Amino acid sequence: MAAALELDRVSKTWGAMRAVDNVSLRIEAGERVALIGASGSGKSTLIRIASGLALADPTSGGVRSFGLGVQDKGKLSSEVRRARRQIGLVFQQFALVGRLTVMTNVLVGVLGRISRLRGTLGLFNDDEKRTALAALAEVGIAQHAGKKARELSGGQQQRVAIARALVQGAKLVLADEPIASLDPKSAKRVMDTLVTMSRDHGIALVVSLHQVDYATAYFDRVIAMNAGRVVFDGPASRITSAFLTELYGASAEELILPSQFAVPAAAVLETTSSEPVS
Ligand SMILES: Nc1ncnc2c1ncn2[C@@H]1O[C@H](COP(=O)(O)OP(=O)(O)OP(=O)(O)O)[C@@H](O)[C@H]1O
Ligand SMILES: [Mg+2]
Repeated sequence: MAAALELDRVSKTWGAMRAVDNVSLRIEAGERVALIGASGSGKSTLIRIASGLALADPTSGGVRSFGLGVQDKGKLSSEVRRARRQIGLVFQQFALVGRLTVMTNVLVGVLGRISRLRGTLGLFNDDEKRTALAALAEVGIAQHAGKKARELSGGQQQRVAIARALVQGAKLVLADEPIASLDPKSAKRVMDTLVTMSRDHGIALVVSLHQVDYATAYFDRVIAMNAGRVVFDGPASRITSAFLTELYGASAEELILPSQFAVPAAAVLETTSSEPVS
């Protein structure tokens, strides 16, 4: 089966800065992976390249998702639009249109499938509206469907973004620091929602995180970056404070949460039990 995401020798350079340095990796369908690393280690750049929002250097190989090309040797592939339709994106800053309703923001997820004109005019059919409402119910905010997006809390807005990825029919969701702007309780709720979405729909999930506690609490596989390189790719169980210090030296502190912010263990979904990847 084609990988949810495949990066082949991907690099990205700005002047003398190598933001991503010869990264190859493969993420299977339905797999859940945390991407950790200190500030500036290249997480966002990698996610932008994986989704076709940024072009890799021409010396790079290709980026593919479910057998479709996203980019190759620094150029967008002819299949990129089809590839992108299967990739849902969630960002730190919610990326919703604040003046539009929650419902409309979620319906934007179907725009990949319907004509832009119909979308611009808000001509969504009943079926599409039902799907959007079901997705909102799934992330627990159906009761807010008619509110303007900006009236929602950060955590609720993030769950709207997740509902939008569901409506889009994404098979891979890339989330770049989705909990960085949230208080611990909302952060936990958003992580629970992402993992439940991935489990229930077999959606592959890549989440970049600053805080290692969340990575080890919610994911079986962790990829750690440092200075644009993958310095660790393996089971979350190996990520201990001592190992982080070994990987990052003094900058490991940035990745280790002070205990008062630690993930409430009892409340975490039982995600650490290993289940077969579909
Ligand atoms: N558009 C750009 N122009 C020049 N340099 C850039 C650009 N975007 C990122 N960089 C540099 O590339 C490196 C990697 O940045 P990136 O944003 O990918 O890191 P990150 O791991 O996401 O960091 P953070 O945890 O702070 O979000 C950094 O040194 C950054 O300054
Ligand atoms: Mg970033």
